[in-house]
Amino acid sequence: MLARNKAWAEYERAKDPEYFSRLENVQTPDVLWIGCSDSRVAANVITGTLPGEVFVHRNIANMVVHTDLNLMSVLEYAVNVLKVKHVIVCGHYGCGGVAAAMTNKSYGLINKWLRNIKDVYRLHQEELEAIPDEQARLDRLTELNVIEQVYDLAKTTVVQKAWKDRNGPHLHGWVYRLSDGIIHPLVEREPGSAVEDIYRFDFDA
Ligand code: CO
Repeated sequence: MLARNKAWAEYERAKDPEYFSRLENVQTPDVLWIGCSDSRVAANVITGTLPGEVFVHRNIANMVVHTDLNLMSVLEYAVNVLKVKHVIVCGHYGCGGVAAAMTNKSYGLINKWLRNIKDVYRLHQEELEAIPDEQARLDRLTELNVIEQVYDLAKTTVVQKAWKDRNGPHLHGWVYRLSDGIIHPLVEREPGSAVEDIYRFDFDA
């Protein structure tokens, strides 16, 4: 990896002598990417984006968990300091985290993480259990999980306050198909879009 790094740096510098000095002192990405840690779903590679274009957070099964200090710090920094225009949650079919959550197996510490996906299952149990094919049911849970994580973004004070103050960011839920490399949009939430009243914060109160 270190040898490849050296070759890459030399290649970029040969192509564009200013490449690194341009990126050195400023970071102005328009996009926060929340994706799965899965090695096959590399944010920059699959979206054809360059260093400097995407602020990235990845965890198992692309979860937005409000007690996760890591995710919440990334979100707050991206929204309030970098002022990203878009936050994308990108899941993927064939996600091991989602598949594990659909079983009754105990995997240790990760049970606590996967329980958040089990909650998504319970929320959509009727729809999911009406799907007879197991693979199709797993795919649908993968999609519903992305949609719920986007909703979880909309439930945060960080996003609601930014929507009020600067009419951004736009929230997007995408799913990536490993078998053909194509990303499919699932859901989009415009700034200020409705959240159920119980999740709405009144900043003027
Ligand atoms: Co995954």
